[in-house]
Amino acid sequence: MNVGIIGSGGREHAICYMLNKSKKVSKIFCFPGNAGTDLIAQNVSLDPDNFYKLEKYCMEKNIKMLVVGPEKPLVNGIVDHFNDKSIKVFGPDKLSSKLEGSKIFTKKICQENNIPTSKFKICDSLNETLDYLKNSYFPLVIKADGLASGKGVYICKNFDEAKTATEEIFKGKFGVAEQILIEEFLDGEEMSYFIVTDGKNYKFFGSAQDHKRIGEGDTGKNTGGMGCYSPSRLLNEKLELKIKKRIIEPTLNAINEYGGVYKGFLYVGLMIKDGEPFLIEFNVRMGDPECQTILPTVKTDLMDIFKSCCEGKLNETKISFFESKSICIVLCSKGYPEKFEKNIQIKDLDQLKLLENQNIFHAGTLKTKVGIVSNGGRVLNFVSTTDDFSKCRIEVISLIKKLNWKNGYFRRDIGHKVIKI
Ligand code: AMP
Ligand code: GLY
Repeated sequence: MNVGIIGSGGREHAICYMLNKSKKVSKIFCFPGNAGTDLIAQNVSLDPDNFYKLEKYCMEKNIKMLVVGPEKPLVNGIVDHFNDKSIKVFGPDKLSSKLEGSKIFTKKICQENNIPTSKFKICDSLNETLDYLKNSYFPLVIKADGLASGKGVYICKNFDEAKTATEEIFKGKFGVAEQILIEEFLDGEEMSYFIVTDGKNYKFFGSAQDHKRIGEGDTGKNTGGMGCYSPSRLLNEKLELKIKKRIIEPTLNAINEYGGVYKGFLYVGLMIKDGEPFLIEFNVRMGDPECQTILPTVKTDLMDIFKSCCEGKLNETKISFFESKSICIVLCSKGYPEKFEKNIQIKDLDQLKLLENQNIFHAGTLKTKVGIVSNGGRVLNFVSTTDDFSKCRIEVISLIKKLNWKNGYFRRDIGHKVIKI
Protein backbone atom coordinates (compact mmCIF):
# COMPACT_ATOMS: atom_id res chain seq x y z
CA MET A 1 0.00 0.00 0.00
CA ASN A 2 1.18 3.56 -0.68
CA VAL A 3 1.14 5.73 2.45
CA GLY A 4 1.40 9.47 3.04
CA ILE A 5 2.83 11.06 6.19
CA ILE A 6 1.92 14.62 7.10
CA GLY A 7 4.55 16.69 8.90
CA SER A 8 8.24 17.53 8.76
CA GLY A 9 9.72 16.87 12.19
CA GLY A 10 11.62 14.16 14.00
CA ARG A 11 8.34 12.49 14.91
CA GLU A 12 7.43 12.12 11.23
CA HIS A 13 10.90 10.85 10.26
CA ALA A 14 10.61 8.20 12.99
CA ILE A 15 7.16 7.15 11.69
CA CYS A 16 8.55 7.07 8.14
CA TYR A 17 11.50 4.91 9.26
CA MET A 18 9.20 2.41 10.98
CA LEU A 19 6.77 2.24 8.03
CA ASN A 20 9.69 1.80 5.64
CA LYS A 21 10.55 -1.43 7.51
CA SER A 22 7.07 -2.85 6.88
CA LYS A 23 6.61 -5.29 3.99
CA LYS A 24 3.03 -4.04 3.71
CA VAL A 25 4.13 -0.55 2.68
CA SER A 26 5.10 0.00 -0.97
CA LYS A 27 5.91 3.68 -1.26
CA ILE A 28 5.91 6.50 1.27
CA PHE A 29 5.18 10.16 0.49
CA CYS A 30 5.94 12.89 3.05
CA PHE A 31 4.07 16.20 3.09
CA PRO A 32 6.54 17.95 3.20
CA GLY A 33 9.10 15.80 5.09
CA ASN A 34 12.76 16.72 5.69
CA ALA A 35 16.24 15.68 4.51
CA GLY A 36 15.93 12.46 6.55
CA THR A 37 12.63 11.32 5.08
CA ASP A 38 14.03 12.23 1.66
CA LEU A 39 16.44 9.29 1.99
CA ILE A 40 13.66 6.70 2.30
CA ALA A 41 10.52 8.37 0.94
CA GLN A 42 9.36 10.93 -1.58
CA ASN A 43 9.06 14.43 -0.16
CA VAL A 44 6.22 16.47 -1.61
CA SER A 45 6.15 20.24 -1.17
CA LEU A 46 2.42 20.70 -0.91
CA ASP A 47 0.54 22.52 1.83
CA PRO A 48 -1.04 19.67 3.82
CA ASP A 49 -3.63 22.09 5.19
CA ASN A 50 -5.04 22.39 1.68
CA PHE A 51 -7.10 19.20 1.92
CA TYR A 52 -8.46 19.40 -1.65
CA LYS A 53 -4.97 19.56 -3.19
CA LEU A 54 -3.79 16.82 -0.88
CA GLU A 55 -6.72 14.61 -1.88
CA LYS A 56 -6.03 15.19 -5.59
CA TYR A 57 -2.37 14.27 -5.12
CA CYS A 58 -3.27 11.13 -3.16
CA MET A 59 -5.65 10.01 -5.92
CA GLU A 60 -2.96 10.54 -8.57
CA LYS A 61 -0.34 8.57 -6.64
CA ASN A 62 -2.68 5.87 -5.38
CA ILE A 63 -2.02 6.79 -1.72
CA LYS A 64 -4.49 4.76 0.34
CA MET A 65 -3.61 5.90 3.83
CA LEU A 66 -2.54 9.18 5.45
CA VAL A 67 -0.82 9.30 8.83
CA VAL A 68 -1.06 12.71 10.48
CA GLY A 69 1.91 13.69 12.67
CA PRO A 70 1.11 17.19 14.00
CA GLU A 71 -2.05 18.50 15.63
CA LYS A 72 -2.92 21.39 13.31
CA PRO A 73 -4.38 19.44 10.36
CA LEU A 74 -6.33 17.29 12.86
CA VAL A 75 -7.79 20.31 14.63
CA ASN A 76 -8.60 21.76 11.19
CA GLY A 77 -10.61 18.66 10.31
CA ILE A 78 -8.47 16.61 7.91
CA VAL A 79 -10.11 13.38 9.11
CA ASP A 80 -13.61 14.74 8.46
CA HIS A 81 -12.57 15.89 4.98
CA PHE A 82 -11.51 12.36 3.99
CA ASN A 83 -14.37 10.66 5.84
CA ASP A 84 -16.38 9.59 2.80
CA LYS A 85 -13.35 9.10 0.52
CA SER A 86 -11.42 5.94 -0.30
CA ILE A 87 -8.34 7.23 1.56
CA LYS A 88 -8.03 6.20 5.20
CA VAL A 89 -6.66 8.73 7.68
CA PHE A 90 -4.95 7.69 10.91
CA GLY A 91 -5.93 10.39 13.40
CA PRO A 92 -8.90 11.66 15.44
CA ASP A 93 -11.73 13.64 13.84
CA LYS A 94 -12.33 17.36 14.33
CA LEU A 95 -14.57 17.03 17.38
CA SER A 96 -12.17 14.65 19.15
CA SER A 97 -9.21 16.89 18.27
CA LYS A 98 -10.71 19.61 20.46
CA LEU A 99 -9.08 17.68 23.31
CA GLU A 100 -5.93 19.48 22.18
CA GLY A 101 -7.48 22.35 20.18
CA SER A 102 -9.37 23.75 23.17
CA LYS A 103 -8.06 23.47 26.72
CA ILE A 104 -11.43 24.76 27.96
CA PHE A 105 -13.27 21.93 26.12
CA THR A 106 -11.01 19.42 27.89
CA LYS A 107 -11.52 21.04 31.29
CA LYS A 108 -15.29 20.84 30.81
CA ILE A 109 -15.01 17.12 30.00
CA CYS A 110 -12.96 16.70 33.17
CA GLN A 111 -15.55 18.55 35.23
CA GLU A 112 -18.50 16.57 33.82
CA ASN A 113 -16.75 13.23 34.37
CA ASN A 114 -14.87 13.79 37.64
CA ILE A 115 -11.51 13.39 35.90
CA PRO A 116 -8.69 14.43 38.25
CA THR A 117 -7.11 17.68 37.08
CA SER A 118 -6.15 21.03 38.62
CA LYS A 119 -8.94 23.29 39.88
CA PHE A 120 -9.73 25.96 37.33
CA LYS A 121 -11.65 29.09 36.44
CA ILE A 122 -12.73 30.26 33.00
CA CYS A 123 -12.96 34.03 32.47
CA ASP A 124 -14.62 35.86 29.57
CA SER A 125 -12.82 39.21 29.61
CA LEU A 126 -9.67 41.03 30.70
CA ASN A 127 -11.47 42.83 33.54
CA GLU A 128 -13.15 39.71 34.87
CA THR A 129 -9.75 37.94 34.86
CA LEU A 130 -7.97 40.77 36.66
CA ASP A 131 -10.70 40.97 39.32
CA TYR A 132 -10.38 37.24 39.88
CA LEU A 133 -6.57 37.41 40.03
CA LYS A 134 -6.63 40.21 42.63
CA ASN A 135 -8.16 37.79 45.12
CA SER A 136 -6.06 34.75 44.17
CA TYR A 137 -3.13 32.98 45.75
CA PHE A 138 0.00 32.38 43.65
CA PRO A 139 1.61 30.57 41.85
CA LEU A 140 -1.13 30.16 39.26
CA VAL A 141 -1.13 28.93 35.69
CA ILE A 142 -2.70 31.01 32.92
CA LYS A 143 -3.46 29.43 29.57
CA ALA A 144 -4.68 30.53 26.17
CA ASP A 145 -7.52 28.28 25.07
CA GLY A 146 -6.46 27.32 21.53
CA LEU A 147 -3.38 25.90 19.81
CA ALA A 148 -0.31 27.96 20.64
CA SER A 149 2.61 25.74 19.56
CA GLY A 150 3.34 25.02 23.21
CA LYS A 151 3.71 28.73 24.06
CA GLY A 152 0.31 29.66 25.47
CA VAL A 153 1.00 28.49 29.04
CA TYR A 154 2.26 30.93 31.69
CA ILE A 155 3.32 29.83 35.16
CA CYS A 156 2.81 33.03 37.18
CA LYS A 157 4.49 33.66 40.53
CA ASN A 158 2.60 36.87 41.32
CA PHE A 159 -0.18 39.23 40.22
CA ASP A 160 2.06 41.30 37.91
CA GLU A 161 3.17 38.26 35.91
CA ALA A 162 -0.41 37.05 35.69
CA LYS A 163 -1.58 40.48 34.50
CA THR A 164 1.04 40.52 31.72
CA ALA A 165 0.04 37.00 30.62
CA THR A 166 -3.66 37.88 30.62
CA GLU A 167 -3.07 41.05 28.60
CA GLU A 168 -0.95 39.20 26.03
CA ILE A 169 -3.58 36.51 25.59
CA PHE A 170 -6.53 38.91 25.29
CA LYS A 171 -4.53 41.13 22.89
CA GLY A 172 -4.45 38.13 20.55
CA LYS A 173 -0.88 36.84 20.87
CA PHE A 174 -2.21 33.32 20.22
CA GLY A 175 -5.15 34.24 18.02
CA VAL A 176 -8.52 35.76 18.94
CA ALA A 177 -9.19 35.05 22.62
CA GLU A 178 -12.76 35.10 23.89
CA GLN A 179 -11.97 33.22 27.06
CA ILE A 180 -8.99 32.45 29.23
CA LEU A 181 -8.18 29.54 31.51
CA ILE A 182 -6.76 30.02 35.00
CA GLU A 183 -5.50 26.90 36.75
CA GLU A 184 -4.25 25.94 40.16
CA PHE A 185 -0.51 25.17 40.03
CA LEU A 186 0.12 21.45 40.45
CA ASP A 187 3.19 20.25 42.28
CA GLY A 188 4.67 16.86 41.45
CA GLU A 189 6.56 15.06 38.70
CA GLU A 190 5.41 14.99 35.09
CA MET A 191 4.89 11.88 33.02
CA SER A 192 3.60 11.32 29.51
CA TYR A 193 1.45 8.26 28.87
CA PHE A 194 0.46 7.21 25.36
CA ILE A 195 -2.31 5.08 23.95
CA VAL A 196 -3.47 4.20 20.48
CA THR A 197 -7.19 3.72 19.85
CA ASP A 198 -9.57 2.67 17.05
CA GLY A 199 -12.56 4.46 18.61
CA LYS A 200 -13.70 1.35 20.49
CA ASN A 201 -10.61 -0.29 21.94
CA TYR A 202 -7.39 1.25 23.14
CA LYS A 203 -3.91 -0.05 23.86
CA PHE A 204 -0.85 1.19 25.69
CA PHE A 205 1.71 2.85 23.43
CA GLY A 206 4.55 3.68 25.80
CA SER A 207 5.42 6.17 28.51
CA ALA A 208 8.09 8.82 28.59
CA GLN A 209 9.41 11.94 30.22
CA ASP A 210 10.61 14.79 28.08
CA HIS A 211 12.85 17.70 29.06
CA LYS A 212 11.27 20.90 27.79
CA ARG A 213 13.69 23.50 29.12
CA ILE A 214 16.70 24.62 27.09
CA GLY A 215 19.21 24.48 29.95
CA GLU A 216 20.76 21.66 31.93
CA GLY A 217 19.09 20.94 35.26
CA ASP A 218 15.76 21.79 33.56
CA THR A 219 16.39 25.53 33.60
CA GLY A 220 15.83 28.40 31.17
CA LYS A 221 13.27 28.89 28.42
CA ASN A 222 10.72 26.34 27.34
CA THR A 223 11.36 24.60 24.02
CA GLY A 224 9.52 22.02 21.92
CA GLY A 225 11.57 19.39 23.81
CA MET A 226 15.34 18.92 24.19
CA GLY A 227 15.29 15.20 24.79
CA CYS A 228 13.41 12.41 26.38
CA TYR A 229 13.68 9.08 28.14
CA SER A 230 11.34 6.09 28.03
CA PRO A 231 9.83 4.36 29.93
CA SER A 232 8.97 6.90 32.63
CA ARG A 233 10.44 6.06 36.02
CA LEU A 234 7.07 6.73 37.65
CA LEU A 235 4.99 4.10 35.88
CA ASN A 236 3.76 1.07 37.80
CA GLU A 237 0.68 -1.16 37.59
CA LYS A 238 -1.28 0.64 40.29
CA LEU A 239 -0.71 4.06 38.78
CA GLU A 240 -1.47 2.76 35.28
CA LEU A 241 -4.83 1.41 36.43
CA LYS A 242 -5.75 4.83 37.89
CA ILE A 243 -4.72 6.59 34.66
CA LYS A 244 -6.89 4.25 32.60
CA LYS A 245 -9.97 4.16 34.83
CA ARG A 246 -10.04 7.75 36.03
CA ILE A 247 -8.71 9.63 33.01
CA ILE A 248 -8.54 7.73 29.70
CA GLU A 249 -11.75 5.69 29.76
CA PRO A 250 -14.07 8.50 30.93
CA THR A 251 -12.55 10.79 28.27
CA LEU A 252 -12.95 8.31 25.40
CA ASN A 253 -16.52 7.57 26.56
CA ALA A 254 -17.32 11.29 26.68
CA ILE A 255 -15.94 11.78 23.16
CA ASN A 256 -18.10 8.88 21.93
CA GLU A 257 -21.17 10.38 23.60
CA TYR A 258 -20.48 13.72 21.91
CA GLY A 259 -20.44 11.86 18.57
CA GLY A 260 -16.69 12.05 17.96
CA VAL A 261 -14.64 9.25 16.39
CA TYR A 262 -11.19 8.94 17.93
CA LYS A 263 -8.79 6.85 15.88
CA GLY A 264 -5.15 7.54 16.50
CA PHE A 265 -2.63 8.30 19.21
CA LEU A 266 -3.63 10.05 22.42
CA TYR A 267 -0.92 11.75 24.46
CA VAL A 268 -1.90 12.01 28.12
CA GLY A 269 0.20 14.66 29.89
CA LEU A 270 0.11 14.02 33.63
CA MET A 271 1.35 15.40 36.91
CA ILE A 272 1.92 12.63 39.44
CA LYS A 273 1.66 13.63 43.08
CA ASP A 274 1.99 11.08 45.89
CA GLY A 275 1.14 8.28 43.44
CA GLU A 276 -2.01 10.05 42.19
CA PRO A 277 -2.36 11.11 38.52
CA PHE A 278 -3.71 14.55 37.54
CA LEU A 279 -4.36 15.45 33.93
CA ILE A 280 -2.38 18.48 32.72
CA GLU A 281 -3.23 18.23 29.05
CA PHE A 282 -4.19 15.97 26.18
CA ASN A 283 -2.47 16.04 22.81
CA VAL A 284 -4.18 14.28 19.93
CA ARG A 285 -0.92 12.99 18.44
CA MET A 286 2.37 11.45 19.48
CA GLY A 287 4.82 13.71 21.28
CA ASP A 288 7.97 15.02 19.69
CA PRO A 289 10.62 13.84 20.79
CA GLU A 290 8.64 11.14 22.67
CA CYS A 291 7.74 9.47 19.37
CA GLN A 292 11.39 9.20 18.29
CA THR A 293 12.19 7.73 21.72
CA ILE A 294 9.37 5.18 21.86
CA LEU A 295 9.04 3.94 18.25
CA PRO A 296 12.43 2.15 18.13
CA THR A 297 11.20 0.03 21.07
CA VAL A 298 8.05 -1.13 19.22
CA LYS A 299 8.28 -4.72 17.96
CA THR A 300 4.94 -4.85 16.12
CA ASP A 301 4.74 -3.75 12.47
CA LEU A 302 3.59 -0.11 12.74
CA MET A 303 1.54 -0.46 9.56
CA ASP A 304 -0.50 -3.24 11.19
CA ILE A 305 -1.26 -0.90 14.09
CA PHE A 306 -2.31 1.99 11.82
CA LYS A 307 -4.38 -0.28 9.58
CA SER A 308 -6.20 -2.02 12.41
CA CYS A 309 -7.02 1.35 13.99
CA CYS A 310 -8.42 2.74 10.76
CA GLU A 311 -10.52 -0.41 10.31
CA GLY A 312 -11.75 -0.45 13.93
CA LYS A 313 -10.02 -3.79 14.57
CA LEU A 314 -7.34 -2.87 17.10
CA ASN A 315 -8.48 -5.70 19.39
CA GLU A 316 -7.13 -8.15 16.77
CA THR A 317 -3.60 -6.66 16.88
CA LYS A 318 -1.19 -7.40 19.68
CA ILE A 319 1.22 -4.53 20.29
CA SER A 320 4.51 -5.66 21.75
CA PHE A 321 7.61 -3.77 22.81
CA PHE A 322 11.25 -4.63 23.36
CA GLU A 323 12.16 -4.57 27.04
CA SER A 324 14.80 -1.88 26.37
CA LYS A 325 15.31 1.60 27.73
CA SER A 326 15.49 4.46 25.27
CA ILE A 327 17.01 7.93 25.27
CA CYS A 328 16.69 10.63 22.63
CA ILE A 329 18.81 13.80 22.69
CA VAL A 330 17.92 16.71 20.43
CA LEU A 331 20.72 18.57 18.68
CA CYS A 332 19.41 22.07 18.12
CA SER A 333 20.71 25.24 16.49
CA LYS A 334 22.72 27.51 18.80
CA GLY A 335 20.43 30.29 20.04
CA TYR A 336 17.22 28.21 19.94
CA PRO A 337 14.50 28.76 21.23
CA GLU A 338 15.25 32.42 20.59
CA LYS A 339 17.21 33.74 17.60
CA PHE A 340 19.19 31.21 15.61
CA GLU A 341 20.71 30.95 12.14
CA LYS A 342 19.40 28.66 9.44
CA ASN A 343 21.07 27.18 6.37
CA ILE A 344 24.18 26.05 8.22
CA GLN A 345 25.73 23.05 6.56
CA ILE A 346 25.83 19.75 8.47
CA LYS A 347 28.89 17.97 7.10
CA ASP A 348 29.54 14.22 7.09
CA LEU A 349 26.21 13.21 8.55
CA ASP A 350 26.16 10.24 6.20
CA GLN A 351 29.61 9.17 7.42
CA LEU A 352 28.35 8.43 10.94
CA LYS A 353 28.23 4.66 11.43
CA LEU A 354 25.17 3.64 13.44
CA LEU A 355 24.73 0.39 15.35
CA GLU A 356 21.44 -1.47 15.01
CA ASN A 357 20.18 0.00 18.30
CA GLN A 358 20.93 3.57 17.22
CA ASN A 359 19.01 6.06 15.09
CA ILE A 360 19.33 9.61 13.89
CA PHE A 361 15.98 11.14 13.07
CA HIS A 362 16.03 14.44 11.21
CA ALA A 363 13.85 17.41 12.20
CA GLY A 364 14.84 20.87 10.88
CA THR A 365 17.02 19.72 7.98
CA LEU A 366 16.91 20.42 4.27
CA LYS A 367 18.68 18.80 1.32
CA THR A 368 20.33 21.41 -0.91
CA LYS A 369 22.92 21.40 -3.72
CA VAL A 370 25.71 21.89 -1.17
CA GLY A 371 24.46 19.04 1.02
CA ILE A 372 22.28 18.90 4.11
CA VAL A 373 21.70 22.20 5.93
CA SER A 374 19.82 23.18 9.09
CA ASN A 375 16.37 24.54 8.55
CA GLY A 376 14.92 24.98 12.05
CA GLY A 377 15.54 25.16 15.79
CA ARG A 378 15.49 21.47 16.56
CA VAL A 379 17.68 19.87 13.92
CA LEU A 380 18.54 16.22 14.65
CA ASN A 381 17.37 13.59 17.15
CA PHE A 382 19.92 11.04 18.31
CA VAL A 383 18.40 7.89 19.80
CA SER A 384 19.85 4.81 21.46
CA THR A 385 18.00 1.84 22.95
CA THR A 386 19.86 -0.51 25.30
CA ASP A 387 19.23 -2.31 28.59
CA ASP A 388 20.46 0.67 30.59
CA PHE A 389 19.70 4.42 30.50
CA SER A 390 23.26 5.38 31.27
CA LYS A 391 24.57 3.35 28.32
CA CYS A 392 21.96 4.91 26.04
CA ARG A 393 23.10 8.40 26.98
CA ILE A 394 26.80 7.61 26.61
CA GLU A 395 26.19 6.21 23.12
CA VAL A 396 24.09 9.17 22.04
CA ILE A 397 26.54 11.78 23.31
CA SER A 398 29.39 9.96 21.62
CA LEU A 399 27.54 10.08 18.28
CA ILE A 400 26.80 13.80 18.67
CA LYS A 401 30.48 14.45 19.43
CA LYS A 402 31.54 12.47 16.37
CA LEU A 403 29.30 14.60 14.18
CA ASN A 404 30.84 17.70 15.76
CA TRP A 405 28.41 20.16 14.18
CA LYS A 406 29.76 23.57 15.10
CA ASN A 407 26.37 25.31 15.14
CA GLY A 408 24.83 22.67 17.41
CA TYR A 409 23.79 22.75 21.08
CA PHE A 410 22.48 19.85 23.14
CA ARG A 411 21.79 18.96 26.77
CA ARG A 412 24.11 16.37 28.30
CA ASP A 413 21.80 15.65 31.22
CA ILE A 414 18.77 14.15 29.46
CA GLY A 415 17.37 11.44 31.72
CA HIS A 416 19.09 12.84 34.84
CA LYS A 417 16.32 11.48 37.05
CA VAL A 418 17.08 7.91 35.94
CA ILE A 419 20.87 8.19 35.63
CA LYS A 420 22.90 8.62 38.79
CA ILE A 421 26.16 10.29 37.78
P1 AMP B 1 0.60 22.31 28.59
O1 AMP B 1 0.85 22.93 27.24
O2 AMP B 1 -0.80 22.47 29.11
O3 AMP B 1 1.13 20.91 28.68
O4 AMP B 1 1.60 23.05 29.58
C1 AMP B 1 2.98 23.11 29.33
C2 AMP B 1 3.73 22.80 30.60
O5 AMP B 1 3.35 23.72 31.63
C3 AMP B 1 3.43 21.42 31.19
O6 AMP B 1 4.21 20.42 30.61
C4 AMP B 1 3.77 21.66 32.64
O7 AMP B 1 5.17 21.60 32.83
C5 AMP B 1 3.34 23.07 32.89
N1 AMP B 1 1.97 23.13 33.42
C6 AMP B 1 0.82 23.23 32.74
N2 AMP B 1 -0.25 23.25 33.57
C7 AMP B 1 0.24 23.16 34.83
C8 AMP B 1 -0.35 23.15 36.12
N3 AMP B 1 -1.67 23.27 36.30
N4 AMP B 1 0.47 23.03 37.19
C9 AMP B 1 1.81 22.96 37.04
N5 AMP B 1 2.44 22.98 35.85
C10 AMP B 1 1.67 23.08 34.74
N1 GLY C 1 7.22 16.98 23.70
C1 GLY C 1 6.02 17.66 23.91
C2 GLY C 1 5.01 17.60 22.85
O1 GLY C 1 5.17 16.92 21.86
O2 GLY C 1 3.99 18.27 22.97
